[in-house]
Amino acid sequence: MNSEYVPQFSEDEMKQVNHHISKYPKPMAAVMPLLWMIQEKYGWISLDAMKYVGEILKLPHDHVLGVATFYTMYFKKPVGRNHLQVCTNVSCMLRGGYEIFNHISDKLGIANKEVTPDGVFSIEEVECLGSCATAPMLQLNNEEFYENLTVEKVDQLLESLKNTK
Ligand code: FES
Repeated sequence: MNSEYVPQFSEDEMKQVNHHISKYPKPMAAVMPLLWMIQEKYGWISLDAMKYVGEILKLPHDHVLGVATFYTMYFKKPVGRNHLQVCTNVSCMLRGGYEIFNHISDKLGIANKEVTPDGVFSIEEVECLGSCATAPMLQLNNEEFYENLTVEKVDQLLESLKNTK
């Protein structure tokens, strides 16, 4: 994970960028895939990276900032190797979402959007991730859902993730 970086796409990546732009009637529509490319490359999206994407697409910085900050799948700060996004929206809240969030926060000794000193975990409170029927739930690294959570299941998950590379 780069804590600071100078955003720059390589020649090959620029081909991908142009491919994304060519798929849409207007270049501005490519803002999401370009932000995603930045996150895949650097692990998170800095303000400079948002400006860089804006320059490529000839978009005002505020527009790119608006998109990046609207979606929790875009990380606006460096995250841990295991980024845990805990839903505390209505269904999850009613079924113990805050208990799950607070348990993880206490156990890891980090608050919302913080990273453990060893860089292994980070935690973030998020809005509904569309898995309300299996609340409470969390998402790991924008990829995997863990559902019908209990404190015990969370403890097992944290244990299993501790030594992942
Ligand atoms: S309220 Fe948590 S997934 Fe919908």
